[in-house]
Amino acid sequence: MTGAARPRVTLKLATSLDGRIALGNGNSKWITGPQSRAEVHRMRAAHAAILTGIGTVLADDPRLTARPEGGCERQPDVIVMDSRARTPGGAAVFGASDRLVTLIPHRDLARAMSGYDTVMIEAGARIAASAISAGLVDRIEWFRAPVILGGDGIPVIAALGLEALDAAPIFTRTGVRERGADLQESYERIR
Ligand SMILES: NC(=O)c1ccc[n+]([C@@H]2O[C@H](COP(=O)([O-])OP(=O)(O)OC[C@H]3O[C@@H](n4cnc5c(N)ncnc54)[C@H](OP(=O)(O)O)[C@@H]3O)[C@@H](O)[C@H]2O)c1
Repeated sequence: MTGAARPRVTLKLATSLDGRIALGNGNSKWITGPQSRAEVHRMRAAHAAILTGIGTVLADDPRLTARPEGGCERQPDVIVMDSRARTPGGAAVFGASDRLVTLIPHRDLARAMSGYDTVMIEAGARIAASAISAGLVDRIEWFRAPVILGGDGIPVIAALGLEALDAAPIFTRTGVRERGADLQESYERIR
């Protein structure tokens, strides 16, 4: 499952209708429904590694295991972007013994993902923004739940610092599927 070239990178986003990932107070668990979450497990199983950020580990303490219906042959490795070594020793990502968890003491996303052929990013707004800014995101899988969290909620992508519209990253939509009450939109990067 590993290779020398740059990996194909999927950014998975799970948001409210208005593109928020959490309330202003940080509360964020289960915005999307069970069918979306089941699809995320299938997607995890199809990637060699899952990349997350220390912000997500500290806020949600996710396991990031692939638990698709019918089981999973191999658990994806986990890459935690944590330049200041704040990951607790008891974090849930360490709970699965049959996979590699790497804590990355720098902020270079491309370097952190090298050696893998497919990586799925499941992180907060800061890592998502860095990955998009660096042109590392090939595909977005966006799960959108029919709930509105409002402008005091946390936006799914942190500041990009764009000064002109023609510098904005552009994606083309390649699919839309219903996942229970949610929608899954798929996008491929154009620019
Ligand atoms: N709905 C979803 O799809 C979803 C998924 C995951 C998380 N979340 C939510 O996102 C929130 C956490 O977001 P977050 O932005 O604080 O956390 P994050 O994006 O998971 O992690 C951000 C941290 O990663 C570290 N980092 C290392 N390299 C980086 C780089 N190249 N670019 C940016 N950051 C880098 C930084 O900490 P250091 O400087 O200490 O290294 C930074 O503060 C939580 O509320 C969580 O529930 C939502």
